[in-house]
Amino acid sequence: MCGIVGYLGNQDAFPILIKGLKRLEYRGYDSAGVAVLSENGQLEYHRRKGKVDDLLQHMEGKVPDGNMGIGHTRWATHGPPNDVNAHPHLSGDGELALIHNGIIENYHALKETLVARGHTFYSDTDTEVLVHLIEEIMKSSEGLDLFEATRVALNEVVGAYAIAVVDTRRPHELVLARKSSPLVIGIGDGEFYIASDAKPIIEYTKNVVYLDDEEVARVSLSSGLKIRTIANHKVTPVITELEMAMESIEKGGYEHFMLKEIHEQPRSIADCLRGRLRLGHETIRMAGIDDHEEMWAEAKRLIIVACGTSWHAGLIAEYMLEDFARIPVEVEYASEFRYRNPVIGKGDILIAISQSGETADTLAAIRMAKEKGAHVFGICNVVGSSISRESHSGAYTHAGPEIGVASTKAFTAQLAVLALVAMRVGRLRGALDQLRFNRLLVELDAIPEKVEALMKSESKIEALAELYKDRPNALFLGRGYNFPVALEGALKLKEISYIHAEGYPAAEMKHGPIALIDENMPVFVVATKDAHYDKVVSNIQEVKARGGQVIAIVTRGDTEVATMAEHVIEVHNSDDAFVPMLSTIPLQLLSYHIAVKLERNVDQPRNLAKSVTVE
Ligand code: AGP
Repeated sequence: MCGIVGYLGNQDAFPILIKGLKRLEYRGYDSAGVAVLSENGQLEYHRRKGKVDDLLQHMEGKVPDGNMGIGHTRWATHGPPNDVNAHPHLSGDGELALIHNGIIENYHALKETLVARGHTFYSDTDTEVLVHLIEEIMKSSEGLDLFEATRVALNEVVGAYAIAVVDTRRPHELVLARKSSPLVIGIGDGEFYIASDAKPIIEYTKNVVYLDDEEVARVSLSSGLKIRTIANHKVTPVITELEMAMESIEKGGYEHFMLKEIHEQPRSIADCLRGRLRLGHETIRMAGIDDHEEMWAEAKRLIIVACGTSWHAGLIAEYMLEDFARIPVEVEYASEFRYRNPVIGKGDILIAISQSGETADTLAAIRMAKEKGAHVFGICNVVGSSISRESHSGAYTHAGPEIGVASTKAFTAQLAVLALVAMRVGRLRGALDQLRFNRLLVELDAIPEKVEALMKSESKIEALAELYKDRPNALFLGRGYNFPVALEGALKLKEISYIHAEGYPAAEMKHGPIALIDENMPVFVVATKDAHYDKVVSNIQEVKARGGQVIAIVTRGDTEVATMAEHVIEVHNSDDAFVPMLSTIPLQLLSYHIAVKLERNVDQPRNLAKSVTVE
């Protein structure tokens, strides 16, 4: 996903822009560029296919002079990754420079109109059309300044955008706007910091303003921050104080953010439970539910929408909610749900799960559900994200910033929050008796410590990674609560090592996939001691009978599977519902070490973005 940074203040802009772009690298990108404006309105811009370091190398140590500028990392939507398509894009007269995260869906029609009015284009991007449109509006409506012209232009745009645009004739102001793609304004002491999220801003200021959809803003050294809607209504800026801490966005001595985040899970799960799981009181406190008890007590069904790893968390939530709260649950891919005209309305609760809180399909799904009268409960990790702000109620996972593109700590934190929700609603609806509830509280409270213990098996897992890193395919199997863990294990492996992997319910093997089994196909089986254990043991035997190699995740002390599998990795026991927070850890570590051994870009795998804010 593209990244946007901007600066206006009394310091040199260029080093701040470059540092900001590096803090956004985790989002995934293929090109980078900057534009800096000097005091006298001299615009200098550079853009390059490749990484931020490639851009710096291309500039050969040249540091543009100026205290205002914009920077961009591009994740290609329209037009291949190359120097010409990299941002910033300039107006025909060279006076305006613009960067953009999102998609202008009607760019083709706009481009035709602009070409008819004599505009020439050099790139294949939709973004270049937008900067020419602003230029055209400034030229055809005498006296409109950049702020007004941008607002007028965006009324003609269909699509998603987070933009920053500068005008050489007004070297002391930056104009911004957003719709569906996030944009944050950091308020410093006589300085303004712009970014797609808070990470490039936190080291300078904790005071931020989140732009809302269809808002245009201008930051100026003389008149400060001004916000209007694109319909020209005045907006009073609301300053929020960031909770994020600096060290949370540094690697902290780990080689990759992903490894750091895997190891942070004992703390992130504990942080997620803190203040909510009240062992001594035998209760769970969740403001997002406490304030809507009647609605949860009367809800006829729950619909869970999410994408990717968050969708896997939704599958586990389905099992927990139906087991603990006896409420019917449907789990949907957000991208499918939003387009199929679903039957949903008042009395339904839609649970949206999203680490970033910016995933376009999930955001669109909650907007549709709200329009149809459902209550939206958002479970996000990024505080102040669009989904968290647009949900009626919700719960943050409090896992801290997750920089690695492959989601790990956010996933287990989602499972912890969803366990709390299922237990809280189960008690509320009288479906979960106090005795079982209390036992579950104790088990859930013990999870962080059990996760910590799992880290001791990392060297054994690294050795397994060495054995299996060169296999072209892999299968992941599980049943019940561990079936989504198998899906998640397969996703982790394929998204960071580029090895083809599939997850299946173990019982499904006989319906086709068992044809894939031979001595070259590693089969990772989650075979912990749960209600399905005996059936999974049979599935392991079926695989072995066909020459397959089995690597099993087992409950500590298991002796039966250990006699069948090539390798076993032990996890502590817990309630079946909470085992996924344990059984997923070895699979995270396995994928990480395989990817490292294959010299993949672990934190920024090819083609991927940390948050998919385009459809
Ligand atoms: C997970 O490792 C992937 N990075 C991806 O599937 C991710 O879970 C998905 O894009 C959803 O993102 P979200 O949780 O931020 O909505």
